[in-house]
Amino acid sequence: MASFNSADFPTVALDEAAGEIVIIDQTLLPGEVKLLRLSKIEDIWEAINVLRVRGAPAIGVTAAFAVYLAGSAVATDDPRVFEKRFGEAAGYLATARPTAVNLFWAIGRMKRALGGALAAALSVADIKAALLKEALAIRDGDIAICKAIGEHALGLLKPGMGLLTHCNAGRLATVEYGTATSVMYLGHEKGYGFKIYCDETRPLLQGARLTAFELAAAGMRPTVICDNMVSSLMKAGKVDAVFTGCDRVAANGDSANKIGTSGVAIIAKHYGVPFYICAPSSTLDMSTPDGAGIVIEQRPAAEVTEMWYKTRMAPADADVYNPAFDVTDASLITAIVTEDGALAPGRLREKYAGGAD
Ligand code: MRU
Repeated sequence: MASFNSADFPTVALDEAAGEIVIIDQTLLPGEVKLLRLSKIEDIWEAINVLRVRGAPAIGVTAAFAVYLAGSAVATDDPRVFEKRFGEAAGYLATARPTAVNLFWAIGRMKRALGGALAAALSVADIKAALLKEALAIRDGDIAICKAIGEHALGLLKPGMGLLTHCNAGRLATVEYGTATSVMYLGHEKGYGFKIYCDETRPLLQGARLTAFELAAAGMRPTVICDNMVSSLMKAGKVDAVFTGCDRVAANGDSANKIGTSGVAIIAKHYGVPFYICAPSSTLDMSTPDGAGIVIEQRPAAEVTEMWYKTRMAPADADVYNPAFDVTDASLITAIVTEDGALAPGRLREKYAGGAD
């Protein structure tokens, strides 16, 4: 197992001098911590598409850096030529994955920064500087927001509680702290002594490979369970609260997250365990009225039948259903914890009526 010091390996970084994005290749974790340096937009697209970098906020930050780099490589003094080439790169990157709204949110922010620079009649060199500033602001905002989410969530808990999480909404899915794991990091720092359970999260095992890995590396001792053990664990009274991340929250509070999340929420409701979604406000999509409007990514069958196994584990003549996300109904969610606090799903519209930006 690779050793991991989070301070040495930011999930996503920009090496401005080299014109490269630096990411940890998460497909290799926990066996190997390998840094990838990417400069071409096609390589960054591929890294997002195959989940070398993944998790809604980290995808957003990567996208901001990627379109900045694509723009900085455009050799022209004509702002209109720059705008066209930037738009092409942004449009292409937006096709990397469909569900996490942070991808589109970050690209939208970068486009608005470009719009402001064009309106101010800046030179191409100054436009590039404005885009760099915006990309770095998106990254820095992510760190502050995740910390605030953790602080709000900590106010909901008592020392010694049992916490369950699904997938990886950890620092590997953000720049620092994570969303659902922020409360765990902050609680750990303050000596809360939480007992943490991680669903392994079939089929890509983000819970076992990534969440358990990063929490263990930070000195917590998480317990990994198979996804089908949640009911048993809750029935045994071992879970006091569930915290998961989210890829997109619709205006009514319906929340898309890693496949299996809605099942956890249904079981939690049965056992009276509070179920919290942790998300930066950039994950709120107030333009989508409810979960039915959220596009769910379908992924390759081999992730279910072959990946991780020495030999194929399903007959070749069986079909596979492999949606990457599901939608948890708002009625199952106790609260959505953003950087602004914990809010009942039904109150999102009044709080974020003017948009979540
Ligand atoms: O397919 P992934 O690994 O990108 O899915 C990630 C999740 O579902 C996370 O829970 C979500 O993006 C929130 S990350 C803070």
